[in-house]
Amino acid sequence: MSEILKFPEGFYWGVATSAYQIEGAWNEDGKGESIWDRFCHTPGHILGGDTGDIACDHYHRWPEDVALMKSLGIKAYRFSVSWPRILPKGRGIVNQKGVDFYSRLVDGLLEAGIEPFLTLYHWDLPQALQDEGGWPNRTIVAAFSEYTEALAKNLGDRVRYWLTLNEPYVAAFLGYLEGQHAPGHKNLEEALQAAHHQLLAHAEAVEIIRDLVPGAKVGIVLNLSPVHPASQDLADRRLAWLIDAHLNRWFLDPLSGRGYPFEVFRRLSELKDLLPETLPRFLSLVKLDFVEDRDLDKIAVPLDFIGVNYYTRILARSPKASVPPQYTPSTEVTDMGWEVYPHGIFEILARVHFDYRFPAYFITENGAAYPDVVTSSGTVPDKPRIRYLKEHLRELHRAISIGIPVLGYFVWSLLDNFEWAYGYSKRFGIVYVDYKTLRRIPKESAHWYAKVIANNEIEVE
Ligand code: FCB
Repeated sequence: MSEILKFPEGFYWGVATSAYQIEGAWNEDGKGESIWDRFCHTPGHILGGDTGDIACDHYHRWPEDVALMKSLGIKAYRFSVSWPRILPKGRGIVNQKGVDFYSRLVDGLLEAGIEPFLTLYHWDLPQALQDEGGWPNRTIVAAFSEYTEALAKNLGDRVRYWLTLNEPYVAAFLGYLEGQHAPGHKNLEEALQAAHHQLLAHAEAVEIIRDLVPGAKVGIVLNLSPVHPASQDLADRRLAWLIDAHLNRWFLDPLSGRGYPFEVFRRLSELKDLLPETLPRFLSLVKLDFVEDRDLDKIAVPLDFIGVNYYTRILARSPKASVPPQYTPSTEVTDMGWEVYPHGIFEILARVHFDYRFPAYFITENGAAYPDVVTSSGTVPDKPRIRYLKEHLRELHRAISIGIPVLGYFVWSLLDNFEWAYGYSKRFGIVYVDYKTLRRIPKESAHWYAKVIANNEIEVE
C-alpha cells in the first residue's frame, strides 16, 4: 500500500551548487586566484589531478542551467558567490564584471520564477587573503564585511535569502587541521582560529545584510549529523559525546549564545587515536586567547534560520571499548562510502530544534553520489538516488509533522560537479554532466523530483 505525504503550501523545493564546483572560468573577467585554484594547481592534492578550471562551465552556460531548472519546476536555487570574482585581492577594488555575472544570474532566476538563495562563502577564499594568513588571521573579518557589503549593495534589491557561510566546520578542520582541503594546513590552533573568525565574520555579515537589505532573511549553513555510540560501553559513549561536541556543538552552542563547549579541549586527547596523527603534537600548544571579550556576544546574533546539510550519521566506536559493537553501519552506502541513514535527518532536526529553538530551518543540502552511466538510449537511470531522496524526504516530512518549522529542501546537487579532493570521480547531480562535451542530461531522479515539486508531495510504500 502506498501513502501520499503532502508538504506545506509554499515549501521551497530547491537544488544547490557552489561556485568553485561548477563555474569554471577560473581566471576570466578579472577574477582573482582562490585558495582552491592554488590547491588544485599544486600536484598531489586532488584525485586524478582534476581542477575546477572548467568544471561545468556554468559561468558561460548559466542561461541553459537556469532554463533546465525552470523546466524541472525548481522553486529555489542555492548558489554561492566566488569572493575573488567580486574582490580579486579579497578587499579593495570591486571587479564590476564579477558583480555583473551574479547580477545577470539573479535576474535570470527571478525571470524564471526561481527564488535565489545566495551563499556568501563556500570555501573559495581569495588567495591574497590566505597569503596574509587566511581565516586564522583576525583581520579577515573586516575583509569579509567589505565583501558582504559589496554584495548586499549590488544584489540586495533582488536577493531575499542570504546564507553567510557553508559548513565552517569543514572549512576550518579539513582546510587547516586535516589538510585535505585548501589551503591544506595541518595545525589545530589555526583550525580553531579559523572556526572562530568564520563565526565572527558571519555575525558581522548578518548585521550588514540586515542594515542594507530590508526584509532579508539571513542564516548560516552547518553540516550536522547525529552521533551514536556503537555500544553502551562507557568508552563509546564518551567518544560519541566528544565527537558531537566537536562537530555539532562547536558551532550550534556559540551561535545560540552558549559559548564554546570548552570541555572538549580538556578531553581532546581522548580523540588522539581517531584524529589525524598531527593532532597530539599541537594539543599542548593550544591556547584560546584569540577569543576576545564580547566575541561570544557578537556571535550569538539572532538568525532567521539555520541551514542544515545532512548526508549521514556517525557511529562512534572507541578502540578502548571492551564489548562488541551493538550497532554497525548499514551495508547500504553511497559512492562516497557514506552510510545511507535517512532517519538521521529527522533526528538531527528534532535535536537542534527542541534543544536550541532556532526560528526556522532549511535542509540546504541532502543527496548522494552514485556511479551513474548514460545508457545507449541516452537516459541515466539512477534508482538508488531516487530511493535515497525519497527516504530522506519521508523522514523530513515526519519532522515537519511534529511541528519543526522546516521551510524548504535543497538537493545536492543540480549538476554533477567537482567534488573537492575527489575531483570529478563522484557524481552527486540529478543532472548528468558529460565532462567531454559539457552536455547536461537530466537523470531519472530529476524527472522524479520534478513530479514531487509539481504535486508538492511524495509517494511512499
Ligand atoms: C558538502 C559540501 C558540498 C558538497 C557536498 C557533497 O560538505 O558543502 O560542497 O561537496 O558536501
